Amino acid sequence: MPTSCAAWPWPAFIAHRGGGHLAPENTLAAMRTGAAHGFHMVEYDVKLSQDGVPFLLHDDTIQRTSDGAGQAAELSWKALSQFDFGGWHGSAFAGEAAPSLFAVARCTQALGVHSNIEIKPSTGHETATGLAVAQAAARLWQGAALPPLLSSFSEAALDAARDAAPDLPRALLIEGPVPADWRARQAGLGCIGINIDVQYADLALVRDVLARGATLAVWTVNEPARAHELLRWGCHAVFTDALREVHAVTASTQP
Ligand code: G3P
Ligand code: MG
Repeated sequence: MPTSCAAWPWPAFIAHRGGGHLAPENTLAAMRTGAAHGFHMVEYDVKLSQDGVPFLLHDDTIQRTSDGAGQAAELSWKALSQFDFGGWHGSAFAGEAAPSLFAVARCTQALGVHSNIEIKPSTGHETATGLAVAQAAARLWQGAALPPLLSSFSEAALDAARDAAPDLPRALLIEGPVPADWRARQAGLGCIGINIDVQYADLALVRDVLARGATLAVWTVNEPARAHELLRWGCHAVFTDALREVHAVTASTQP
């Protein structure tokens, strides 16, 4: 079973949102949880505060994952820093902050885990977010053994990221069924490959993507048997929330 290759130098197992289901998503505690469960790569979502600080958050708003409320794009970094982004998950994580990309770069590099930075712009902020996140990533991972993989559902963000940091590898995230023109979109953006929804990962598609020389990573794969199958088909990586199950079972099948 391939764990890495020339086109995909990163690990085959990626902890989704840092710590999957075991920690509050997109926090430093999540990154530590992913690493503690044996993952050598983490995925997390990055957008901009009102004053342009790249930080980790999935939604446009903060209410689902914090004790605050409001649109992230309308809150300053100072205001965002005062909310608790851990308590919703459990009292053990109460007081956990939303980290800046700067803090996550330091944390993940100290832990020795690689990064997939998903550029997740607040609606209407696609170009500015792609630009700022790629610029920051190039600076924060300068000299790292492996660069972070940038990815986004937003083609405008990926285009801006290419302009800002052309040497950083990028992947096109695809929501829903993979469109017939995926190859033209991916190549047109200068992306190395596509990251797709597990629901749409069938063998014919996997073979087609790999035959065209693109990288292929699949989210979010929470069933060990499915992860095993996708990697056997040749998919380069799987993102998972089920850190104990998927990693433990799949790792036991490796030589
Ligand atoms: O990057 C893979 C995956 O995280 C994309 O979906 O909504 O969990 O960010 P989402
Ligand atoms: Mg994501």
